Amino acid sequence: MAGMKILVLGGGAREHALVWKLAGERGVSEVVCAPGNAGMARVARCLPLDLGRPEAALALADREAVDLTVVGPELPLTRGIADLFAANGRPIFGPSRLAAQIESSKVFTKQLLSECRVPTARCQVVHHARQALEVLASGTLGYPVVVKADGLAAGKGVVIAPERRDAEAAVRSMMEERRFGDAGAKVVIEEFLEGREASFFVMTDGRRIVPLVSAEDHKRAYDGDEGPNTGGMGAYAPSRLWDAAVEERVIHEIVRPVLDLLRARGREYRGVLYAGLMLTREGPKVLEFNARFGDPEAQVVLPMLDSDLLPVLWGAASGDLAGLRCAMRSDPHVGVVLASGGYPESYETGRPIQGIERAEEEPGVLVFHAGTRLDRGQVVTAGGRVLTVVASGSSYADARARAYRAVEHISFDGMHFRRDIAAKALQSESA
Ligand code: AMP
Ligand code: GLY
Repeated sequence: MAGMKILVLGGGAREHALVWKLAGERGVSEVVCAPGNAGMARVARCLPLDLGRPEAALALADREAVDLTVVGPELPLTRGIADLFAANGRPIFGPSRLAAQIESSKVFTKQLLSECRVPTARCQVVHHARQALEVLASGTLGYPVVVKADGLAAGKGVVIAPERRDAEAAVRSMMEERRFGDAGAKVVIEEFLEGREASFFVMTDGRRIVPLVSAEDHKRAYDGDEGPNTGGMGAYAPSRLWDAAVEERVIHEIVRPVLDLLRARGREYRGVLYAGLMLTREGPKVLEFNARFGDPEAQVVLPMLDSDLLPVLWGAASGDLAGLRCAMRSDPHVGVVLASGGYPESYETGRPIQGIERAEEEPGVLVFHAGTRLDRGQVVTAGGRVLTVVASGSSYADARARAYRAVEHISFDGMHFRRDIAAKALQSESA
């Protein structure tokens, strides 16, 4: 068969990494992306699209006669893009709306986990502020306690409350003031888990599981895990906390039972499953799932894939991953996000970016674009997270040093980044 034409949906560094990987593969004849960004435009044709409108994406896929559409962010999934494409006979990589509830509804997921007895934090689901306040007064979940809005809240719907009054304030803001709109109509109050966080990515066709790799994200804005939560300021892979025994446990005690129960409930999950885990003294426990690749995790995970990505995307989309696997490199990868001044709060855009080419010349370095656009031939900032600079190396220290050396070449007005990405991995490397 002639190569496939692929449409990648999204405009972040995660999607740039997808496009970069696919564009070099034998089975791919052309990659187009929508809406894309200045970096993706160098390897693929970019087309305008409102990601919140699945029917517009379908019209685009029809017009361009694409063979496979790959969904980057969660929004189109929660709006049912996979269902719409399936109903129109258009292959798509990404779960159905009901399967994607594993990300979009924390209440759904906690109930699912409880039914299949998968380890997770003990919790109470509450439907009114009054009920929430009773749970908090009873103290049965201990303190600190974690208060989570049921629906999507752009990574801001989770509050770790050291004391009862902080938890009560979080409940009032979510349930009474509706800070996150309907996402706060229901709330999960859960036990605080001690441990270290790691994520794990698998491809699945609903039954079969093809593991990718583990990774660690850095969600807070500033060094030392200080400041507000962001979409992610950097990542590294593989996680230092991971080994074959943990992976075996996570697959058998968590991923397998969850996929089996989803299938049994008529919500077969096809796509990439992102398991956010807390590795506790009692073993791995689920913090959350995402129905897509992580950003910035994808920027370090995809360059580690030594085999082609297209066969597994196609296998997951078409329900047949039989005989496929992902060959992963073992050398560590570190990714540092360069953000606009002010991010994650308000920031300005349109600032010229210097030094991207110089950074890319460093050995083992890749620069993935997020919020960038071309303005009369000059790459300028166009979003909060602007670039992810990724480097591989023979050790965590080596990969990290290379990434930060490359970062030194890049500048734009207001640029900020964390200087401690993967620092934790180094502590364990020298220990
Ligand atoms: P979530 O969106 O549910 O993953 O929560 C966002 C972040 O909050 C996680 O990445 C953790 O760092 C933290 N978190 C969530 N739930 C818990 C918990 N039960 N115990 C400790 N930390 C948590
Ligand atoms: N980096 C976290 C996420 O993509 O949800």
